[in-house]
Amino acid sequence: MKSWIVAAAAALLCATSAQAVTVVTADRMLDVTTGKYLEHPAILIGDDGKIEQVGTAGTIQAPPGAKHIDLPGETLLPGLIDMHVHMNSLAEIGGYEGLKYTDSFWAAIGPYNARKDIDAGFTTVRNVGSGDFDDVGLKQAIDGGWIVGPRIIPATYLLGATGGHCDDTNGLPPSLDKKGPNIVSGPEDAREKVRWVHKHGAEVIKICATGGVFSLGDSVGAQQLDYDEMKAIADEAHMLGLKVAAHAHGDEGIREAILAGIDTIEHASLASDATIQLAKQHGTWFDMDIYNDDYILATGTANGTEQQSLDKERMVGLKQRQTFQRAVKAGVKMIFGTDAGVYPHGDNAKQFAKMVQWGMTPLQAIQAATLNASEALARNDVGVIEPGRYGDLVAVRGDPLQNVSLLEHVDAVVKGGELVKGPGAQ
Ligand code: ARG
Repeated sequence: MKSWIVAAAAALLCATSAQAVTVVTADRMLDVTTGKYLEHPAILIGDDGKIEQVGTAGTIQAPPGAKHIDLPGETLLPGLIDMHVHMNSLAEIGGYEGLKYTDSFWAAIGPYNARKDIDAGFTTVRNVGSGDFDDVGLKQAIDGGWIVGPRIIPATYLLGATGGHCDDTNGLPPSLDKKGPNIVSGPEDAREKVRWVHKHGAEVIKICATGGVFSLGDSVGAQQLDYDEMKAIADEAHMLGLKVAAHAHGDEGIREAILAGIDTIEHASLASDATIQLAKQHGTWFDMDIYNDDYILATGTANGTEQQSLDKERMVGLKQRQTFQRAVKAGVKMIFGTDAGVYPHGDNAKQFAKMVQWGMTPLQAIQAATLNASEALARNDVGVIEPGRYGDLVAVRGDPLQNVSLLEHVDAVVKGGELVKGPGAQ
């Protein structure tokens, strides 16, 4: 191994402070698999940050020297997972406003968003798109212990068509046009781009299958990548052991994405009943940001959002919620994703109440952000409080199965056995 690689690995180890064995106790704990409460839980978390035992105050023997995190009066849940965020975007800078900021600005605001998300109880986030590999750097800084934030699954660049939702130079005059490294054209190029982002740290592939709300000049429902391109991307990603998330509002784009083998459909706004059935058959996840509409329409043009985007939002907002209701009823597998970055990081949990309002039980909404999310990520180390998984926990006061909005106010957050927020946190 090259010596600089060894040096870099050693530096990484030094930054991660040695951690003590920890016991967390509270009034009760929600088992998200069964929907049942365990009274007076005690959770033993090892010095590797992973849960060793889950029991009750009477059954768990804390080893000498163990650290205690006691949360009387609190209900514990697994650390929450947001499957659709943009760590290097700010909701308050929309439309052409972003052009006023230098390129490195977007990397610089990553830690700000990371702190907001983890303080809101989101201990894992899937970052479905950042430029310049900013999400990989942010992940490295968090994993190394230099800054505080959630576990990140980075997608890096969003792959999409020229002039499509993921083309950042839409709306600029041709003299200022510059083809981004994320533009794919044809199946072979698409494969190559998957390899390239994977090489530089992508742990999930994000594509733009149809037009969007915030992209300028495209139609929100129109398909933008063809079946062959999506199939090449899905095959290549799966060969590399990665999942693929497809931004898709329009029915035809959603249908072809499912047929191509895409794993999660983002937004899924205009899916027909036939497409909903197809998703069910294929076991494709729907990840629907149904809180977003409220924020986008309430802020209007104040964030720099272009009128055309607001018009597009008015076309899809309500329909997306109705599709969500039909998809839940039909039994499509659902995950929790908010598009934080398009609305403020830290407000992620506001979506739970919307999901319940539009047809889920509180337990289903919580499972979408825990159990289901870990399954869709193919990660058995997050999402559930059980031995072998990270000691990632949130604490709320009251019964979230009665009132899911309680998740908007978490009193404590533990990540890998470390208290990140709550009494005594740094
Ligand atoms: N990033 C998405 C887009 O630009 C946001 C869609 C928000 N609207 C909604 N109803 N979920 O298309």
